[in-house]
Amino acid sequence: MSGETLHLTAAPADLRRAAELLRAGELVAIPTETVYGLAADALNGRAVRKIFEAKGRPMDNPLIVHIADIKDWAALVTHIPEKARALAAAYWPGPLTMILPHAPCIPDEVSAGLATVAVRFPSHPVAQSVIRLTGRPLAAPSANRSGIPSPTTAAHVLADMEGRIAAVVDGGPCAVGVESTVVDLSGETPRLLRPGGVTLEMLEAVAGPVDVDEAVTHALREGAAAASPGMKYKHYAPAAHVVLVKGSPAAYAAYVNRRGAAFPGRVTAMCFDGEESALTVPFVTYGRREDGTDQAHRLFDALRRLDELGAEEVYAACPPEDGVGLAVYNRMLRASGFEVVDADEPAG
Ligand code: TXA
Ligand code: MG
Repeated sequence: MSGETLHLTAAPADLRRAAELLRAGELVAIPTETVYGLAADALNGRAVRKIFEAKGRPMDNPLIVHIADIKDWAALVTHIPEKARALAAAYWPGPLTMILPHAPCIPDEVSAGLATVAVRFPSHPVAQSVIRLTGRPLAAPSANRSGIPSPTTAAHVLADMEGRIAAVVDGGPCAVGVESTVVDLSGETPRLLRPGGVTLEMLEAVAGPVDVDEAVTHALREGAAAASPGMKYKHYAPAAHVVLVKGSPAAYAAYVNRRGAAFPGRVTAMCFDGEESALTVPFVTYGRREDGTDQAHRLFDALRRLDELGAEEVYAACPPEDGVGLAVYNRMLRASGFEVVDADEPAG
């Protein structure tokens, strides 16, 4: 569509308006605890098609279906295995998406022609209310233009989608800040396709051993098929050229300052809180070095701010890879197009 985008609040009358628009086959951006989603009636293929147009998203990238009552899951899939039930009991509602073979009601636009469907029960009260008021499951990818950082505020959504969607519901900033954990439960062993707020450690505590898809921490090999189609695209990328820098805080600062001296006015740092004082170049911060939860919460805003600053060359401090840090590391690998240097190496 092209026209005016309604700015709605979380007041009951506004949520009813959002639900009416969704039932009429329109697109409405809604807050979730992870990131803002661009929602459409998941059972209406024509409405879902508009999501791909508004985002500029390739049609072969399937969507997550959102529910607000665990009982609604059964109608969307062929069968719910025991491990999936256990994970739902432990972590739903919350930032966990589970993939299972889909029922016939799922339109091809949602599954991108795959035999499976991804389902999530978000914990955000506004997302839950809109789903319930609509009376349908909602398909929703992150509400950004394809390829750039996901939106964690209504302002981010409007920067990308004003005039392209019917409405946005402003529910304030998102608590988690990175997209949900995606786990494929259609095979013998659960497989982690995208790390998020429900960590690998949390999954294994409930479901036993979990395979980690190679694409979580590695670029897809030329010609290889993606378990999760979204992983083959460049993602989360600001306009700047981003390099991820491993190494101690001191080695990171020395590396960035050397680049800054070599290319005056061209270099921006993306560093952890408190580490900016050692830098001689402009910077954005994205949380404390040892706090993956804080980094996740601030990551996408920091990436968007790099664009606002007009950054050209960005050197980002690499997050630790444990806990929620794995989700931050995964997004930063994609933001940098897998360009990683080690500042502790002598040649750095
Ligand atoms: O937190 C989230 O998950 C947010 C909020 C709005 O819920 N949504 C989100 O959607 O991040 P999206 O479309 O940006 O990312 C969904 C990811 C993509 O990488 C997609 O390829 C993958 O999940 N996916 C969806 N359905 C799949 C399926 N049937 N098999 C494999 N991967 C699937
Ligand atoms: Mg996305």
